[in-house]
This record gives sequence, structure tokens and C-alpha cells, in this order.
Amino acid sequence: MITKDLLLYLANKYGTPLYVYDFDEIKNKVFDFKRAFKARKSLICYALKANSNLSLLSYLASLDCGADCVSINEVKRALKAGIPKYKIIYSGVGKSDLDIKEALELDILFLNLESVEEMLRVETIAKDLGKSARISIRVNPNVDAKTHPYISTGLRENKFGVNIESAKKMYIYAGNSKFLHPIGIHFHIGSQLVELSPITQSANKIVELIFGLLALKLDLKFIDIGGGIGIKYNDEKTIDIYSYAQGILKEMQGLDLSIICEPGRYIVGDCGVLISKILYEKQNENKRFCIVDAAMNDLIRPALYNAKHKIEYISVDTNQKSHIPDLLKDNTRFQEYADIVGPICESGDYIAKHIKIPRTKAGDLIIIKSAGAYGFSMSSNYNSRLKCAEVAIINGKDKLIRKRENFEDLIANELPYLN
Ligand SMILES: Cc1ncc(COP(=O)(O)O)c(C=O)c1O
Repeated sequence: MITKDLLLYLANKYGTPLYVYDFDEIKNKVFDFKRAFKARKSLICYALKANSNLSLLSYLASLDCGADCVSINEVKRALKAGIPKYKIIYSGVGKSDLDIKEALELDILFLNLESVEEMLRVETIAKDLGKSARISIRVNPNVDAKTHPYISTGLRENKFGVNIESAKKMYIYAGNSKFLHPIGIHFHIGSQLVELSPITQSANKIVELIFGLLALKLDLKFIDIGGGIGIKYNDEKTIDIYSYAQGILKEMQGLDLSIICEPGRYIVGDCGVLISKILYEKQNENKRFCIVDAAMNDLIRPALYNAKHKIEYISVDTNQKSHIPDLLKDNTRFQEYADIVGPICESGDYIAKHIKIPRTKAGDLIIIKSAGAYGFSMSSNYNSRLKCAEVAIINGKDKLIRKRENFEDLIANELPYLN
């Protein structure tokens, strides 16, 4: 459990902004998933894109998780962290020839293919390597996932996967190729899903396709049901994990395939926070701002998806009195509601908008909740800001799992214009 005292201690010890993850809680989430699917042979391939810190991956490896990767470097991360190659799958609409070659050489469980062209490329590369490539095809079931359009992936208008008719032809082709070995089928309709019916509707379509393929003597072993289970950022109703598993298992009746699931956000989202420090308060007439040391480069979700993270305010005993000379005092009425904004030169750089927060002082803290997924992994060096440090809480003890960047790290790959 991450208590207020612990957060204060960590902010002091490691500085801010700081990501903190509760690994003990992550373990509970993994076990929730395992329990829900225990009636079937199943494998959790954690979606690295949510948070790919190597220590986190090693921890998940120790809990028998596999990895869902969307770049060859995610595959390499997973392997480096000790996730066995036979538990690693690789998706993505734009794998290069080199990505495919490396993935085949690394001999991972399978590649999820997203187009006819990609399949033909994989066949050629496998032939050159003298291998038969284990593959799965990502089927786009054309179901509305009812989530933010940027993270909706299962509609015809989205770039992901192929439609059911094309998938069928691709399986028949692959089944007849010496260099392709179709062993799985995949769907993933979006992220932060809070309704079960689009998932079961999709599963229903995919299961029908599988029965058709089995009748054609295709030897499929895995159904990969993707990820996407939403978490409670605020008051949204989320999907109960047990009902989710039951819904999928009901659709799969009569099918003897192992289940692969690819949760990301569900495993780490709620188990992480971002600690940030108040730098200044200011009020422009009736508009009040609390300026903090975290910014959109550290957590882009509010700017990108209009995401609303819960914010906890912690007043810190700093012994610093902010004294404003009478001449500079502003007599506008104090606003109870403020925008929490970062130091980046963009009006879109905000952490939260219009939240009720007491008058703050420099050195106070805000805790940005549910920041474990798509937080650090989407961070950047925009405005030449340094990426945060990351800390894990394991068995109640803190452990640094990523050092804060410094200026030398920032410029390490840049070459001088003049010698
Ligand atoms: C193919 C695939 N699998 C799994 C995930 C993980 O989704 P989530 O973090 O919502 O569980 C994603 C995320 O978009 C994805 O694209």
C-alpha cells in the first residue's frame, strides 16, 4: 500500500516528478487475471506498451507472464527481462523486413500479422531463413469498442488487422505454405474498454471464423483475445474481470484452444502514481493555475485523450513563507477551482482542469493517480525536459528502477555540427 507518508518520503528521497509503482498490487492484478481464466489453459502476455520498465518486466516474468510486443525492441526488452521466447508475441501494422527477420531469428511464439502484404513478406523472409514462421492473423471484427477514438482499433475504418473474409483467405494460403505455420488467431478492439458486450460480440465473430477454419483442417492452437480492459480513472463503471473471462469462455464453448490475453492497463494502470511538486500559483483575473513540475512530456494522457486523472493534494510543511509585497498583491477574489498545468510552452500542457484545490504553496505535492499505464512509456524529452525517475515498492520497500535523466543523457546521441 502506498501511503501519504511513503509518498512524502519518496518525493524527498528521489525528487520530483517521480513515478511510483506498487509491485505488490501488480501481483494481485496478475492473480486476478489468472484466477478468472483458470478453467482453461491460458497465458497472460502483458502488453509492454503500457509500461516497459525492465524491472517491471522481470517481476512479471517471475509471475509467469509472457509479453505482447509491438516493436522489435519491445521483443528484445522482454527477452532481456527474462521472459522466455515461447511466451512472446509480436503485433503491429508496420513491421520492417529487418524487424521480421530478427523476430524469426529470435524464434518467438508467433507474429500477429495485420495485412496480406505483411504475410507475403514474412513468407519470403522465412523462406530465405529456411524456416517456417509461426503466425497468427489479427482479425478486425468491425465492432464499435465504445472508447476514445484514438484507442479504438476494431472498426473497419481503423488501420488494424484484416476483415473476416480476408482473414479466411489468408489462413487458407498460409496453411498451404511451407514457410508459414498459422497457429493462432487474434483480435483486439481497443483500450480502456468499459463495456463487455463489444468484446463478447467480437469473440463470437472470431469463434465462428475459427470453427470454419478448423473444418478446413487448419491446426490452430491459440485464440489471442487482446487486451483493453479499462480501469477506473474516475467514476466510470468498469468490466469485472471474472465476468469478462466468463463472457469469453461462453463464446468459446466447444473450442479446445489455449487463450492468450494481452492486458496492459489493467495490470499496471491503477498500481502507479506520478508525484509532482507545486512550483507556483497564479491567477489571471478569474482563472487560477497551479503550476507543477510535471508536464505533458511526463504524462501526455490529459493532453492527448482529454483523460481525467484523480489528483490528491498534499500540503507539505516547508517552513517557506511566501511573502508578496503589498504593492504586488492582487485583489481579485480567490478561485477555489484551478487548472493544474506544467511548465511546457503549450496551452495543451495540463495535468488536470478545473479541479477544486486549496490554496497551495511552493513545495506542496500533488499525486496523480492511476498513472502506471501509458504514463512513463509515452513520455518524451519535449522542451529538452529530462525523463523522470521510476521507483517500485516491493514487499513494502522502495527500489529505484530507473534513474532520473541528466543533461548528458539528454544530448548523448547528438553529434556536433562543428568539429
Ligand atoms: C494489440 C494490443 N494488445 C494489447 C493492448 C493493451 O491494451 P490495454 O493496455 O488497454 O490492455 C493494446 C493497446 O492498445 C494493443 O494494441
